[in-house]
Amino acid sequence: MLTLAFETSCDETSAAVVDENLKILSNVVSSQIDIHKRFGGVVPEVASRNHLLAIESVTQEALLRAGVTLDAIGKIAATTHPGLAGAVMVGRVFAESIAAARNLPFIDVNHVVGHIASCMISQSPAGRHPSILEGKRLAPPFLALVVSGGHTALYKVHTFKKISLLASTTDDACGEAFDKVAKVLGLPYPGGPEISKQAAKFNRNTDLIFMPNANYKKTKDFSYSGLKTAVLNYVNRKKQKNEPLDIPAICYAFQREAIGQLVAKTPKSNLPLTICGGVAANAYLREQFPGAFFPEPGLCGDNAAMIGAAAILFKGAEIK
Ligand code: KG4
Ligand code: ZN
Repeated sequence: MLTLAFETSCDETSAAVVDENLKILSNVVSSQIDIHKRFGGVVPEVASRNHLLAIESVTQEALLRAGVTLDAIGKIAATTHPGLAGAVMVGRVFAESIAAARNLPFIDVNHVVGHIASCMISQSPAGRHPSILEGKRLAPPFLALVVSGGHTALYKVHTFKKISLLASTTDDACGEAFDKVAKVLGLPYPGGPEISKQAAKFNRNTDLIFMPNANYKKTKDFSYSGLKTAVLNYVNRKKQKNEPLDIPAICYAFQREAIGQLVAKTPKSNLPLTICGGVAANAYLREQFPGAFFPEPGLCGDNAAMIGAAAILFKGAEIK
């Protein structure tokens, strides 16, 4: 049976066709990044309007690339929460309308569960099979660290039905901090890939800039506002003294602290660890977590294939 899945919770309009083995037949992602770039971040109402403009052609493209028509689809899935209210609504209503018109079951998916499901899709050369079906890799129970622009949280996935929250950010999400720091440094939105690129230019054998980020150490939860302010203060002090900014050095120092916090706060456990969400595409992060399970970089950001995977593997799952 094929699932037609939708994701519109933020600034990506996406539709995918996925089979019951989590093989991705198509995964079309239309990003609004260029539209929001000029505002330095996502403008919710602009996002909703652009989802409306894109969703029909994105859906047609997903069916076309999968080589099927709607007649071949057995169920419909969409992100229904959490996300920007108007943006989520566009995908949800579009998906529910197809389900109603075609008399197909509709499966609502929690966006965060979608990110967690992205770790279950492995990209073997023979096709895209869920890790669990390969018999050697990931199966609950495991820990899932979701690191994106909207979320920074650690979960325990007990079973495919039961997920519990262990820790989350008390202020900014990690990706949000990347985006805000990039803005302060005059780098384009989204900041994560830009900061990562700049940080890679830093010579790790030279002196590090100190970025105090003591706040988070007091609790089990994550915190990024202190680190963001530390960068802002550093940049302001430099500007006041008319000193030049060493962008690669600042980006490296920030990234080291931002990712270092994730390493410090993730408990050492016998359970496997999966890391997903937009920031999980970061090469430095991957280096710092040897042994963790990652989705392929193309499945880290928001996409509908992960929503389809969640509808199949995690149907009815609740986060408590
Ligand atoms: O998962 P995602 O597409 O959307 C949300 O659910 O938030 O994540 C987007 C976030 C943005 O904050 C972006 O800057 C960040 O992921 N990001 C990265 C990288 N690629 C994307 N952060 C650090 N390094 C990257 N390579
Ligand atoms: Zn996301």
